[in-house]
Amino acid sequence: MNRVIYMDYNATTPVDPAVVEAMLPALSQHFGNPSSRTHAYGWAAAQLVDQARSTVAQLLGANPEELVFTSGATEANNLAIKGLAFSSKRRHLVTTAIEHPAVLDACESLKRHGFQVTRVAVGRDGVVDPAEVGRALTDDTLLVSVMLVNNEIGTIQPVAEVARLCHQRGVPVHCDATQGVGKVPVSVQQLEVDLLSLSAHKFYGPKGVGLLYVRRQHPPLRLEPLLHGGGQEQGLRSGTLNVPGIVGMAKALELAVGLLAEETARLATLRDRLRQRLFAAYPGLVENGDPRRRVANTLNVSFPGLDSGALVASLPRLAVSPASACASAKPKPSHVLLALGRSSAEANSALRFSLGRFTTEEEVEAAAAMVEEALAKWRKL
Ligand SMILES: Cc1ncc(COP(=O)(O)O)c(C=O)c1O
Repeated sequence: MNRVIYMDYNATTPVDPAVVEAMLPALSQHFGNPSSRTHAYGWAAAQLVDQARSTVAQLLGANPEELVFTSGATEANNLAIKGLAFSSKRRHLVTTAIEHPAVLDACESLKRHGFQVTRVAVGRDGVVDPAEVGRALTDDTLLVSVMLVNNEIGTIQPVAEVARLCHQRGVPVHCDATQGVGKVPVSVQQLEVDLLSLSAHKFYGPKGVGLLYVRRQHPPLRLEPLLHGGGQEQGLRSGTLNVPGIVGMAKALELAVGLLAEETARLATLRDRLRQRLFAAYPGLVENGDPRRRVANTLNVSFPGLDSGALVASLPRLAVSPASACASAKPKPSHVLLALGRSSAEANSALRFSLGRFTTEEEVEAAAAMVEEALAKWRKL
């Protein structure tokens, strides 16, 4: 096997060929601007967007007018958090220590505008305790933001429980469900959330498109837009709609929901096989995130005594992710692993394997063999 094996599906996924197929008409003959109300090109594009909106709404248990199409989850998270904060009289937000930077930094930026932020700690299992969230609420809390599935360790958070507790105190809840689609059921009704973010490229759709669900009933949530201009998306997100992206996202969501049960079973078997081989190859291996409350595709393990950056460098034919923020010149240990109580050294020895729709048994065996070989070389050194 000469090509590089892809095991970084939590970073992004390839666009499913059926999604590409669905997008083609929106890239070619139906290229119109859906805001052009005076001619057939605009109408055709608007019709594609309407169809996609209905499909997505139905799959998420939402109403079509409750969806705001965005450029991805980063924008959706920012719109949810800042949009609500700027339209609220309250001044306190609650989130968790293991959120994606698109949530943590959006909250952090609000501190410069006089808001206060509480980051609720998580247990060593990587799961937030709803009671802890309850204890963080004050009469001034305007929003609680809790993710559905953690991108680094794959743990599933008790979002519905958190939402019920917050609603008893009159506090709306935002859920960053970006890593949830195709891995766990995602329904705004079952999760009981008021705001929910998604990004299509995490579920075999195109990059640069996502959405924010905004509850419009009992009572409707009001958000301050972040982008001003043409007034698209009911004035909440100005800018010409990404019609091919939106059409692709709808198709991708349809596929992901349809394949959920089958893929969960298949990937759990593959992930467990990988896990078994890694544990055999490195007896001191430490698993990050509660294995009983984790999605099927993700395996995050620390190799105590090794540096994951160096380990990755010795695996040129395997695309996996060291669990550190490598964006900066000097990699910092992952805030998620530190929040689990891991030391910096343990955090810096972690690798995330994330499997997906195109991962095969053969690839898992080959990947395990590559890691075994790399570890054997390290031992000799
Ligand atoms: C949990 C989570 N939230 C938000 C994002 C941001 O998504 P995007 O970069 O597509 O805006 C990601 C992507 O890594 C993610 O994993």
